[in-house]
Amino acid sequence: AAIEKGGYDHFMLKEIFEQPSTVFDCLRGRVDAANGTITMAGVEANIEQLKNAQRILIIACGTSWHAGLLAEYIIEELCRTPVEVEYASEFRYRNPVIHKGDVIIAISQSGETADTLVAIEKAKEQGAIIFGIVNVVGSSIARASHAGAYTHAGPEIGVASTKAFTAQLAVLAIIALKLGYEKGTLDNKRFLHLLNELEAIPEKIPAALNQAEAIKQLAYKYKDARDFLYLGRGYNFPIALEGALKLKEISYIHAEGYPAAEMKHGPIALVDENLPVVFIATRDSYHEKIISNIQEIKARKGKVIAVITEGDDVITQMADDVIVVPAADELVAPMLSVIPMQLLAYYIGVAKGLDVDKPRNLAKSVTVE
Ligand code: G6P
Repeated sequence: AAIEKGGYDHFMLKEIFEQPSTVFDCLRGRVDAANGTITMAGVEANIEQLKNAQRILIIACGTSWHAGLLAEYIIEELCRTPVEVEYASEFRYRNPVIHKGDVIIAISQSGETADTLVAIEKAKEQGAIIFGIVNVVGSSIARASHAGAYTHAGPEIGVASTKAFTAQLAVLAIIALKLGYEKGTLDNKRFLHLLNELEAIPEKIPAALNQAEAIKQLAYKYKDARDFLYLGRGYNFPIALEGALKLKEISYIHAEGYPAAEMKHGPIALVDENLPVVFIATRDSYHEKIISNIQEIKARKGKVIAVITEGDDVITQMADDVIVVPAADELVAPMLSVIPMQLLAYYIGVAKGLDVDKPRNLAKSVTVE
C-alpha cells in the first residue's frame, strides 16, 4: 500500500499533489493556446445543439455539483446561455420542465452515482441531449450519455474528491470557451487570453501546493474549532462550498460555505472569537467587496484565514493568517484557490488522527439512492 501511495501518507495527499499533472493531462491535446485552438471531439460533434440550446441544465451530486455551480457562472458569462444547476437527487423526484433540445450536462467522477444516472434517464425520456463529464472510462453515466468528455484524472482512491474536481473545472472551462467562441459571445481577444490563462494553470499549481507546510501549521492551530465558516464571492463562491464540504468530510468539524455578502442574513450571528472564517479572497472583480466582508468579520472578533493572490498586502494586514496562491484570471483562478481548501481539510483531519482516506459514513460512489 505504501508503494501505491507513492511515498505519501494517504491517497488523498497523493491525489492533491498529482494535480499539476492531472490538470495538464486533461488539457493536453485539447487546449492549444499558441495556435488559439480548442479540440474536444464531444463538443465539436454536438456544437449545433450546444449553440442552439435555449438552456443548459447541469446535474450532479457532491463535489461534482460544486464544479457545476462554477460552470454556471462561467458559461453564463462567456456564452450567454441560461444555466441551471440542480442536485440529481432533487431533479429525479420532481417534475422538472425540460424542453426538447435542452442540453443537460451531467458531471460525475465515478460515473456510477445512482441519483445522477436516474436523472439522466429521466431527462433523456423528455428529449434532452445528455453531455457527460465523467472520470471513469466506460462507466454507467459515460455510457448513458449521448456525448461527453472524460476528465482523465486517473483513478481517485481517496473518498474526498480532489484531483477529479480540478479536472472537472478544466473540462468545463474548455467547453465554455469553445461554446462562447463558436456562439460569438466571446470575442477573440478574451478567448485567446483565457486560453493562455487556462493552459498556464498546471504550471501554477505547484506554487499553491508549496503552501502545504504553512497550511499544516494552521491545521494544528485551528483543529479544535467546533465550527468553520467558508466565504467567497463570484467564481470563488463554489470554492467556499467545496472548502466547507472537504472539511466536514475529512475532519468531522461542522462547516458552512456561504456567499460572503449573504452571511449578514444569518451566519454572521455565529461569529465570535472562537469561529475561524476562511475567506477565498483572490484578486478579482469582487476584491473590494470581499475586503469589506473581512472587516465585518474582524469587527466581530472572528479569526480570518484568507486565501489571497501573492502580493496582496491589504488583506495580509487584516487577516489572522493568509495562504498565498499565484495570480490568474478570475475565471480560472478557482483551480488554484481550491488547492488550499483540500490541504487544510487534509491536515486538520490528520491532526485529529482521523482516517482521511476512508471517512466514516461516506462512500466513494453512492450507487444506491
Ligand atoms: C460521494 C463522494 C463525493 C462525490 C459524490 C458524487 O458523495 O464521496 O466525493 O463528490 O459522491 O460522486 P460522483 O462520482 O458522481 O462525482
